[in-house]
Amino acid sequence: TGHTALDYGFVNTAATKSAITFIDGDQGILRYRGYPIEQLAKNSTYLEVAWLLIYGELPTADELAAFDDRIRHHTLLHEDLKRFFSALPHTAHPMSVLSSATSALSTYYESQSDPNNPEHVELNTIRMLAKMPVIAAYAHKKSIGQAFLYPDNGLSFVDNFLKLNFGVLSEIYDVNPVMSRALERLLILHEDHEQNASTSTVRLVGSTGANQFSSISAGINALYGPLHGGANEAVLEMLARIRDSGESVQRFVERVKNKEDGVKLMGFGHRVYKNYDPRAKLVKESADEVLEALGVSDPLLDLAKELEQLALEDDYFKERRLYPNVDFYTGVIYKAMGFPTRMFTVLFAIGRLPGWLAHWREMQQDPQTKIGRPQQLYVGARARDYPGAR
Ligand code: CMC
Repeated sequence: TGHTALDYGFVNTAATKSAITFIDGDQGILRYRGYPIEQLAKNSTYLEVAWLLIYGELPTADELAAFDDRIRHHTLLHEDLKRFFSALPHTAHPMSVLSSATSALSTYYESQSDPNNPEHVELNTIRMLAKMPVIAAYAHKKSIGQAFLYPDNGLSFVDNFLKLNFGVLSEIYDVNPVMSRALERLLILHEDHEQNASTSTVRLVGSTGANQFSSISAGINALYGPLHGGANEAVLEMLARIRDSGESVQRFVERVKNKEDGVKLMGFGHRVYKNYDPRAKLVKESADEVLEALGVSDPLLDLAKELEQLALEDDYFKERRLYPNVDFYTGVIYKAMGFPTRMFTVLFAIGRLPGWLAHWREMQQDPQTKIGRPQQLYVGARARDYPGAR
């Protein structure tokens, strides 16, 4: 139509109203439901923030306890679904395993997946919060050829997740409180980020009337890409490549600036943050603390710091207002905890899950929601006749 504005990447177009997350990209401000991310990361828990995002207010102690308890009662996966994992090669990327198994999860609840039924929506919110971490841990276990553990519902959400990932069948697993707190903090930092690519995907798929499982598995696939959640994995690969190649950090930065082979400084730059990413600041603080507390020293952390320093002083990055984003230092911490590189984006997905659920529900409840259907500007051939058709 004559009114269609062309906006590649939706740089200027708002697709919805939302009351969940506020970002001021120039000032580096991020708030969930009005609460500053710094305060939540320091004082709250993953489940408390999940409640806040989904229901709009902080829970009372009783509400939180009941929520936690309900989630603990839904952690088991159907035994048949566990066999689904054996159909995939052990080399499968855990993100593909996570999205496929999340999609497959919906097949168990087809009669209880009506987006217009509030009880179904509530039940599936709980189911996804309970079961997706288990699926994520099984994707990890599968990739290293170890047996799946049953969830230990005597443990907190994060401790249970750690045990499912790092526990071994015949041995007692002692949760390391440093690791537990660090992971909780990282998950909180990832819980929501308004209309990013994966959340917009969840909303778009949801706008068709698709259920929560289908919408969120689509979001997981959107998150997988290296420009989005896949960046945390790509950062570590980049650091390892620089270390192994013996190339100097200066030379690498030169190659980025010259856009040689399209190489980018992964973990740098953001569509919205043009001053700094407040999450990156918190993650960087954690990186030193956590590595020290875990007794790990990693030359890749030093390399990352060197790279950051060099980039921050360089005109190319200054002019383009490119700063480290949340993904720049997370990988180093996940690695110190013992997660394989290919699990990093899965951890992002578990972090982002409450945000996806909150947005799906907000979209569903908004009377102005319509099926998402972008316009295009047609630039193809004019009308012409098929040979011999006239
Ligand atoms: N390294 C080198 N140059 C960059 C980078 C980078 N990481 N990011 C942007 N630029 C350049 C880009 O080439 C362009 O230069 P020019 O004007 O000469 O063409 C300029 O900066 C503007 O970039 P853009 O691509 O128009 O910015 P965008 O808003 O479309 O993209 C981004 C944002 C995050 C996709 C991009 O900065 C990027 O690819 N970063 C690396 C991947 C990454 O770390 N992603 C994680 C994002 S944060 C968490 C998440 O969403 O998962």
